Amino acid sequence: MLFRFLLILFCFISCQQISKNEIRIGEFGSLTGGTATFGQSTHKGILLATEEINAKGGVLGKQIKMITEDDRSLAEEAKTAVLKLIKQQKVVAILGEVASSRSLAAAPEAQKSSIPMISPASTNPAVTQVGDYIFRACFVDSFQGEAMAKFVKNDLKLSKVAILKDIKNDYSIGLADFFEKTFKTLGGNITSVESYSENDIEFRAQLTSILSKNPEGIFIPGYYTEVGLIARQARELGFTGGLFGGDGWDSSKTLEIGGKYVENSYFSTHYSSEDPDPSVQGFIEKFKKEHGVVPDAMAVLGYDAANLLFDAMTRAGSTEGAKVRDALAGTQNFKGISGNISMDPDRNAQKKLVVQKIENGHVVFAQSVNP
Ligand code: PHE
Repeated sequence: MLFRFLLILFCFISCQQISKNEIRIGEFGSLTGGTATFGQSTHKGILLATEEINAKGGVLGKQIKMITEDDRSLAEEAKTAVLKLIKQQKVVAILGEVASSRSLAAAPEAQKSSIPMISPASTNPAVTQVGDYIFRACFVDSFQGEAMAKFVKNDLKLSKVAILKDIKNDYSIGLADFFEKTFKTLGGNITSVESYSENDIEFRAQLTSILSKNPEGIFIPGYYTEVGLIARQARELGFTGGLFGGDGWDSSKTLEIGGKYVENSYFSTHYSSEDPDPSVQGFIEKFKKEHGVVPDAMAVLGYDAANLLFDAMTRAGSTEGAKVRDALAGTQNFKGISGNISMDPDRNAQKKLVVQKIENGHVVFAQSVNP
């Protein structure tokens, strides 16, 4: 008797928590820790998309409930966060992560449970190779590395370049390789490849070795904190050549930490705030009104990833994993703020990339590259 009572009570409580009138979606990201701007920006983009869709009546007539877990910028925590979202929070789909290493740590859990996961911004090719439930709203590093190698060789006309990569970071290792391969194919010379580990603050030994080979530029496929410090130390050691990198530079912190040392550097990323497209400018206005700053690439990709998911659920007419997965795989010409998104057979978004320049303490548009 008591057992039955407890059972009914338990059902009552859990049914109350998981209302039939909502769609529970999980988000995991680095809200704190070494790459906190990545998670915080993405979160703002995801929230904006969620507020907008809920104000319009939600998805399939239900309100979206976004449940967010902080992984503190740690891969092990990313896996735990996703397990928690699936097993305890009973989410039907997942958004995250930005950093490839953390998406790679968590994706197998989503795949095992047949829960669709969209990484807004992880660019390492291996992320979506985890399985058919794993998607991304961005391009991959083969495209990014190739585009930057071409830009450095053909536009900046440099032919002797060194690479300084983060050996603990799947994104950095992959992007360095893709850059090197294309740069060499174009007839360029990679003078040396040196490495560091995430959270290092001292890069002078590697830089001294790099500079001894007289490169005209250094490609640094890392995240903003280390990039800022590397730029500073390279300049202090007297290096006057070019510095360039990938989307890991896309944070206001690159300018804050790098200051005048990152002036005249170039990096590839997912969107330019100078894009005259009215939908881009409209998004920037809305974002500025809420947060007082121009959105960075992660905010835009978070917004796009959330809307991609809402669109797929609507087209699927269901929140069932397999149906949402099929609808996501069939995404064609979805109008995102970061460009038009079509999913390729490997669940990667095919879309344009932009090259940005740091000039007079601002990030300005330099070039756009189509796939
Ligand atoms: N592309 C990076 C990665 O895969 C993450 C990133 C995306 C960082 C966009 C900044 C901006 O790890």
